[in-house]
Amino acid sequence: MNESDLILERKIELLRELRDKARQGGGPKRIETQHKKGKLTARERLDLLLDEGSFEEIDMFVTHRSHDFGLESKRFLGDGVVTGHGMIDGRLTFVFSQDFTVFGGSLAEALAEKICKIMDMAMKVGAPVIGLNDSGGARIQEGVVSLGGYADIFLRNTLASGVVPQISLILGPCAGGAVYSPAITDFIFMVKHTSHMFVTGPNVVKTVTHEEVSFDDLGGADTHAAISGVSHFACDSEAEAIQQVRRLFSFIPLNNLDDPPAIETDDPSDRIEPALDRLVPSNPNQPYDIKDVIHAVVDHGDFMEVHGDYAGNILVGFARMAGRPVGIVANQPAVLAGVLDIASSLKGARFVRFCDAFNIPLITLVDVPGFLPGTAQEHGGIIKHGAKLLYAYCEATVPKLTLITRKAYGGAYDVMSAKHVRADLNFAWPTAEIAVMGPQGAAEIIFKKEIEAAADAASVLAQKTEEYRERFANPLGAAERGFIDAIIMPRNTRPRLIRGLQLLANKVESLPRKKHGNIPL
Ligand code: HXC
Repeated sequence: MNESDLILERKIELLRELRDKARQGGGPKRIETQHKKGKLTARERLDLLLDEGSFEEIDMFVTHRSHDFGLESKRFLGDGVVTGHGMIDGRLTFVFSQDFTVFGGSLAEALAEKICKIMDMAMKVGAPVIGLNDSGGARIQEGVVSLGGYADIFLRNTLASGVVPQISLILGPCAGGAVYSPAITDFIFMVKHTSHMFVTGPNVVKTVTHEEVSFDDLGGADTHAAISGVSHFACDSEAEAIQQVRRLFSFIPLNNLDDPPAIETDDPSDRIEPALDRLVPSNPNQPYDIKDVIHAVVDHGDFMEVHGDYAGNILVGFARMAGRPVGIVANQPAVLAGVLDIASSLKGARFVRFCDAFNIPLITLVDVPGFLPGTAQEHGGIIKHGAKLLYAYCEATVPKLTLITRKAYGGAYDVMSAKHVRADLNFAWPTAEIAVMGPQGAAEIIFKKEIEAAADAASVLAQKTEEYRERFANPLGAAERGFIDAIIMPRNTRPRLIRGLQLLANKVESLPRKKHGNIPL
């Protein structure tokens, strides 16, 4: 080997050593501690998330520049986050994966710069950003620069919102202002017992409010998936959460100008489902499971429910029709009779807006008795929260197909993608009941005096209820006015919806020019 070969060899060897060092993060002991907590390392997570061999790392050798509190003697290559890009099923995504083994994954100046760099690249090339969060919050030794770093990320999250999909995995602590970056992203996945999100932890809560609460009860996956609605998915393990992210990714486009990814399917578009003809019970008060409709209609019954543990009276999620992704919003008569309340309105509105931002057609299945009455709802602001769902549907310009299976009463009829809010195709089953309110409530109001004056009030009420039911508890009144485009046989639902989607594939509709609307927040 001559001298220049030797120099080259040494340089290559140095690079190998540095790479190895960077890959060790905070070192074997901290990696062991991470594993003992039931957590994977930042790199192990990326291995699971991305197609094998597709990850390309950026900024592997970045370190912090701080000299405070002895930090100058503690430098780790990469500074607590692994960033770069890779593929999921051959489709590009940018990623950052916080490394808890380096300063607890705490967010500092250099670390924030790394995250911002890949977010900026994602915006330039139009690809999603997936963040794997596992961090003790702002790096305490770096002071205000770490707060600035967070704000730099929040700004990018906001600017990227509606341009590229953003997905957050919470895989460890996520406290303080750190929760606000995931909160701005489109979907949050948490892992039961090992991940937590809160603005202030149990100790601060105890000091300030004297409440005693565990980490899990305050900000665990179940709490955020079922009670606060902050998280869209609560998974049993990191591996499951990462698999679910890959599945979600298969339904969504890379950016707001891209089409959602279509696949080949062998599920026939003209498949009829005779069982649907008998699904809706003749008794209007008897529930049924709207998931039976969804599973019967979509390709191979494959429905990825989003927010499945939250506000079960409305269902939202992704499926495919003839291989093309659709977003489904469905009242669920099996939970609270499918009523609209604050939580279900928020859940529905957020999903509708995501689909609209990313060109995913919406199919809305309607069986809704109205908005939930009561002081809890009124004082909680059902007016403004219900208005969010209404606003989201009015604003959405993606293809909108609506099917009323049974009840469409009152304001909820309008809200749930009615013709009047620019739905493109409105179908009804013969079992549809479209009216201002349920027949008995309607009879009680419009025949109040006659009922009160009658010797047998109960039978007059029953008779008037029946009269109202006969007049309005069907889809004909709406079909006569063109509010319903077609009354379809339930068994034909899949072919009718698919033909509708094909018809609308090149739909163009726009909104008036404005800076942005003012959704009733
Ligand atoms: C610097 C930190 C750190 C932080 C953890 N570490 N958090 N270093 N800044 N914020 C370091 C620890 O010193 C330790 O280093 C290593 O990470 C692992 O931490 P442990 O405490 O040993 O781990 P664990 O027992 O699992 O506890 C994890 C934890 C705890 C619950 C996250 O570390 C903790 O409470 N950290 C502080 C959380 C916090 O108050 N952050 C600031 C929030 S305010 P060694 O070298 O020993 O391995 C905030 C404002 C943001 O974030 C505002 C944005 C707008």
